[in-house]
Amino acid sequence: MSERARKLRRLEEMRAASRAGGGEARVKRQHDRGKLTARERLEVLLDADSFEEWDAFVEHRCSDFGMDEQRIPGDGVISGHGRINGRLVFVFSQDFTVFGGSLSETNARKICKVMEQAVKVGAPIIGLNDSGGARIQEGVASLGGYADVFQRNVLASGVVPQLSLVMGPCAGGAVYSPAITDFIFMVRGTSYMFVTGPDVVKTVTAEEITAEELGGADTHNSRSGVADRAFDDDVETLRMARLLTGYLPSSNRERAPARPTEDPEDRAEPSLNSLVPTDPAKPYDIKELIYKVADESEFFELQPDFARNIVTGFVRIAGETVGVVANQPAVLAGCLDIEASVKGARFVRFCDAFSIPLLTLVDVPGFMPGSQQEYGGIIRHGAKLLYAYAEATVPKVTVITRKAYGGAYDVMSSKHLRGDVNFAWPSAEIAVMGPQGAVEIIFRQDIGDAEKIAARTEEYRRKFAHPYVAAGRGYIDDVIEPSVTRAHLCRSFAMLRNKRIRDPWRKHGNIPL
Ligand code: HXC
Repeated sequence: MSERARKLRRLEEMRAASRAGGGEARVKRQHDRGKLTARERLEVLLDADSFEEWDAFVEHRCSDFGMDEQRIPGDGVISGHGRINGRLVFVFSQDFTVFGGSLSETNARKICKVMEQAVKVGAPIIGLNDSGGARIQEGVASLGGYADVFQRNVLASGVVPQLSLVMGPCAGGAVYSPAITDFIFMVRGTSYMFVTGPDVVKTVTAEEITAEELGGADTHNSRSGVADRAFDDDVETLRMARLLTGYLPSSNRERAPARPTEDPEDRAEPSLNSLVPTDPAKPYDIKELIYKVADESEFFELQPDFARNIVTGFVRIAGETVGVVANQPAVLAGCLDIEASVKGARFVRFCDAFSIPLLTLVDVPGFMPGSQQEYGGIIRHGAKLLYAYAEATVPKVTVITRKAYGGAYDVMSSKHLRGDVNFAWPSAEIAVMGPQGAVEIIFRQDIGDAEKIAARTEEYRRKFAHPYVAAGRGYIDDVIEPSVTRAHLCRSFAMLRNKRIRDPWRKHGNIPL
């Protein structure tokens, strides 16, 4: 064999060793659990043959606890860059078959390398998490590695989109890297996230709970709000990550990619004229409006099972990505509570950071009353949504479909918080509160007199249960027929395309956390 052939063969052997990961038995165990391997996942996530791997030959440097006998090239994480629908992304995929995907000093360096490069060239970072946490044999070197990753997560925040796909264990401090990223997807049945696992919980608090109950996909998607979506298996999760990436810009230096559409901008939807029930107490589904104004009726919803009284997600309008925030009258009458405020605020800030215009659909009776909310800090949390809207400089278009009462009227992208175009439907009611509540306060002396109260309520309704007082002051730019909402949105977002606002310099504001 020639020297040249021998060198090439050595390369092939080294690559094969890296590709083999933890070996057949461990790969089988991974498959038996319904999980793909780290490499197989990248094949589903990325365009065919687009993956450029880096650091396949990196090995750990630990010699304690017999580790010098066990070195696997790649060291438990596969990293590099590839394409999603032709667009560049950086990836790292933890390989559970190699030391349980645990994070070593060198493995952390690999992750940091792709993160730094992603920020330099302006491309999203997608992390696939499947790991037993800190590499126990390495001790503090591993902890340092985590902190290095956290630091880069923070520096990348608002510069490039960061997406975490939690596809296996993610426990202890390791949860904080995904937590800092923009979106977390989880896989039902095979992934979990918690700061302390069931055993520690039992020792410390005597509570008995399974890993799934404590930190499974459904827990974080419906109870804690830590995750943004849950899917049934690896393949679906990866495909949805591709789909989400398509709505996002590559970095804060670019616009989100436009997708040409055949859907006419002036498409009328006569059914919208009867979406809002005549009885103001009756619920309806705001998602119907979202689907009917979106290009091709496509909507990528985030956190669909958490704080369902507010709906957030992405649509395209005339080909351009738009972030939608909508009160949902079908859940808790659409009122704003702590969870809805935080959900909405975080989404608004993501859109603002990445120049994604905002569409706000308003039907809100106010903030949720009650001691639970007050003790939980609705003042502080509600302020987050207000702050997020007020600081956002992206194009902001608002449609009030029905109620816009009290402070919630101000908060939901009102004109006063630099809303650019504020529409109302003829069914809009813009007032300090609902007619009955208002009359019971300002005519308290008449409360025993049903007839008087009814007359006063009717008077208040006539005065305020419509959009024309607000429109008369210019707080509403136009009152529009519901059926032609899409046309108005298309024109408004097109008009706002080159909007620029410059706020005074500051290091950063102090959002009420
Ligand atoms: C080194 C690890 C490891 C780890 C797992 N392995 N976790 N090696 N460091 N943290 C190895 C195992 O030795 C085993 O090697 C292989 O990975 C698979 O592990 P199993 O236990 O056989 O798998 P499973 O039964 O599926 O259990 C998975 C697990 C469990 C629940 C994750 O391995 C586990 O509890 N690991 C320890 C978790 C932990 O306490 N980590 C530290 C958390 S503190 P072989 O050779 O047999 O295949 C932390 C702090 C971060 O992470 C700090 C950031 C600030």
